[in-house]
Amino acid sequence: MKKIVFFYGPKYNFKRRLPRNRALTTISELAIYSDRKMREHTFKIQSKHSGDAAEKQEERLVIPCLVAYSEQYASISESALHSFLSFIDQFEVESLYLQNPPAHIVSQFRGLHSRVKVIKHEYKTLDIEGLKRIDREYPQVIIGQKNVKHRLLTALYPLAAGKLSKPLVLLFYGPTGVGKSETAKYLSEVVGQKLFRRQFSMFHSNEFAPYLFGGRHTGDSLAKDLMERESSVILFDEFDKPNPLFHSAFYQLFDEGVYEDRNYCAEVKNSVIICTSNYASAAEAKERLGAPLFARFDAVIGFGALSAEALGIILEKRCREAVAELTDEERAIVSERELCGSLLPLVSGGDGVRGVMRIVREKISEMLLEAALRR
Ligand SMILES: Nc1ncnc2c1ncn2[C@@H]1O[C@H](COP(=O)(O)OP(=O)(O)O)[C@@H](O)[C@H]1O
Ligand SMILES: [Mg+2]
Repeated sequence: MKKIVFFYGPKYNFKRRLPRNRALTTISELAIYSDRKMREHTFKIQSKHSGDAAEKQEERLVIPCLVAYSEQYASISESALHSFLSFIDQFEVESLYLQNPPAHIVSQFRGLHSRVKVIKHEYKTLDIEGLKRIDREYPQVIIGQKNVKHRLLTALYPLAAGKLSKPLVLLFYGPTGVGKSETAKYLSEVVGQKLFRRQFSMFHSNEFAPYLFGGRHTGDSLAKDLMERESSVILFDEFDKPNPLFHSAFYQLFDEGVYEDRNYCAEVKNSVIICTSNYASAAEAKERLGAPLFARFDAVIGFGALSAEALGIILEKRCREAVAELTDEERAIVSERELCGSLLPLVSGGDGVRGVMRIVREKISEMLLEAALRR
């Protein structure tokens, strides 16, 4: 092999690193090809042609450039993975490009260490300009969370100033639908990347364990997903929902920015990890998460229930957006002023902004339905 490249990072950047002037063969294609060969070979042995001298000297197929995308390690067998070098040695591979290679493969290249070129994706991260933008925009993006902005900016400062050698880890707590997840989304927008988001409430305990600790090499895992991420803003949404049994999985990630499972090791530096929760106070968070995990958060930021005034502003905004999406014909039936005016007395803190969005949708349907029935 003339060239060996290990690339750590997201697919879009890996693709840019691949040679343009060469035919690319993926390891999935190779696995299928090798399987078919094996079967033909067995068939020949069974038909007693195995002693054929010509066949023994069969030339190795030349592969100018062999490529493995992250998700393709799952397409090769466990044995091909564990003896990856012999697997590809059936062929004359000229150059090899691996995206996020699993630990079992990396360890086989120890002897070839000096010949492996390692490339790590550089993540864009928050800078001081970003903090200025947040300072300007936040009150219009997230309405009615006056106390959050200052605490958030203060917490983000060391990251933006480049003073951190580990990820910045934040815990958001507060009632539902008041802007916690939306704040994470907005931060990734400021950095200019697609948010990496995992909804922790979506996992059942029995599938969460292999996801966190790594199971078969064919399964999904957090370490693998983190390696493929496009963003330096990471959201662990509803962090309070999984069983406390899983908390220790995050110690090393929060402390050092390393997340390791059976198959993969992800590096997470210069990033912000936001965990959201519905705890009512920092004291409750500490009690439920336990002191060791709680102590690992760089800042714990409370979001309050939205005031009637804030809900009113959000209602107006939502009504404007909803009416803008209607057709001209529908707009003749639903006026923004009438819509907003009729709903204002109905907004309440209940389930935060989600409740506002629901009543706007319902009211519009009601107005359109009435007109349709009368027609
Ligand atoms: N304070 C707020 N200002 C403006 N929009 C908000 C606010 N809080 C929530 N929203 C909107 O409501 C929806 C749910 O908010 P989200 O941030 O996911 O709630 P949670 O606090 O439960 O994480 C999002 O579409 C978001 O844009
Ligand atoms: Mg949320």
